[in-house]
Amino acid sequence: MRRQLILKVLLGSAFMVVLLVDQQQNSSIPSMAPWPSSQKTPTEDPLSLSSRKFEWWVQTPHPLDLRYPYPYPFLINHPDKCEGPRGAPFLLMLVMTRPQDVVVRQAIRQTWGNETLVPGVVICRLFVLGLPQPLFAQELQTLLEEEDREYGDLLQVGFLDTYRNLTLKVLTGLEWMAQYCHTAHYVLKVDTDVFLNPSFLVQQVLQPNRPLQPNFITGHIYRNPVPLRTQGHKWYMPPELYSQNKYPAYCGGPGYVMSSSLALRILTVAKRLKAIYLEDVFVGLCLKQLGLKPTPAPPNTFLMFRKKYDLCAFRRLVLVHHFQPQELLQIWPDFLTANTTC
Ligand SMILES: *[C@@H]1O[C@H](CO)[C@@H](O)[C@H](O)[C@H]1NC(C)=O
Ligand SMILES: *[C@@H]1O[C@H](CO)[C@@H](O)[C@H](O)[C@H]1NC(C)=O
Repeated sequence: MRRQLILKVLLGSAFMVVLLVDQQQNSSIPSMAPWPSSQKTPTEDPLSLSSRKFEWWVQTPHPLDLRYPYPYPFLINHPDKCEGPRGAPFLLMLVMTRPQDVVVRQAIRQTWGNETLVPGVVICRLFVLGLPQPLFAQELQTLLEEEDREYGDLLQVGFLDTYRNLTLKVLTGLEWMAQYCHTAHYVLKVDTDVFLNPSFLVQQVLQPNRPLQPNFITGHIYRNPVPLRTQGHKWYMPPELYSQNKYPAYCGGPGYVMSSSLALRILTVAKRLKAIYLEDVFVGLCLKQLGLKPTPAPPNTFLMFRKKYDLCAFRRLVLVHHFQPQELLQIWPDFLTANTTC
């Protein structure tokens, strides 16, 4: 535990350095944009990586732009994950996590990520992560492969793991579902900094005995959201990437759940729309394109703000944002106590 923590701190500070260097590099990208568009891309070896990169930058020079659709590879994969002896999963959990979040993943496995928590319901959990920052890539990659040998629940996708690439992560996770797990009934996109109550989600919101709802998506719904135009804000949206002054209604990123048939339709339209880095907003844009709206969840069941732990309150909700792994481990034994009547 202690060694892991020290490693985490070391990695953390190294990533800061990498981030700073990255930003400096990024700031030089716009100056590359004004290449005359009439200039031809190099013709020799047209399939080489460098010439494709060249085309990509000429076409989409904005540093927040995402390359999608694109055939990102699955570097750590479990093609048979959904074909286990327990049968097709009712719920596929795609947990968005960073390569260095070893401790966080461990806490989630021991708490809400437990696949056998809801009796009689098949849940399948995968942690989706990208490529580690270059500086520690090799060491971290070795650790990740070791972790995966032990738990068999990592899905590593072939692009840099950054906050700005989260949309790619979610879409690639859904592509994995389309390719290897289309028999799942529902798919949950969830972040790691949450408390989740899978029993309530399955029994009260999704209801296994109810017929499947093909166009279903729910979570905390933001209505009439507006793009943030203050430069430097975490969720800043440059007008050149999204010019309208409203976003369509969308489900908040910490956690939302949809039927897998809707996930497939979202993927289809996602390939035709311009992807933006705010993944929850982008899913909303896809819904709008499909002429659909999120379905309201039972009131106060997806909380986007922190709420102090209370057994009886937490039994009647799905998700609470802003929970750290240590807190999860701390409250979990109490949360599982079956002999309290609320
Ligand atoms: C998952 O839950 C089951 C059933 O409650 C329990 O037996 C098992 O120990 C849990 N697994 C982990 C890793 O906590
Ligand atoms: C997203 O990943 C690509 C591919 O690894 C990387 O080149 C790019 O810098 C990342 N984009 C952002 C905005 O972080």
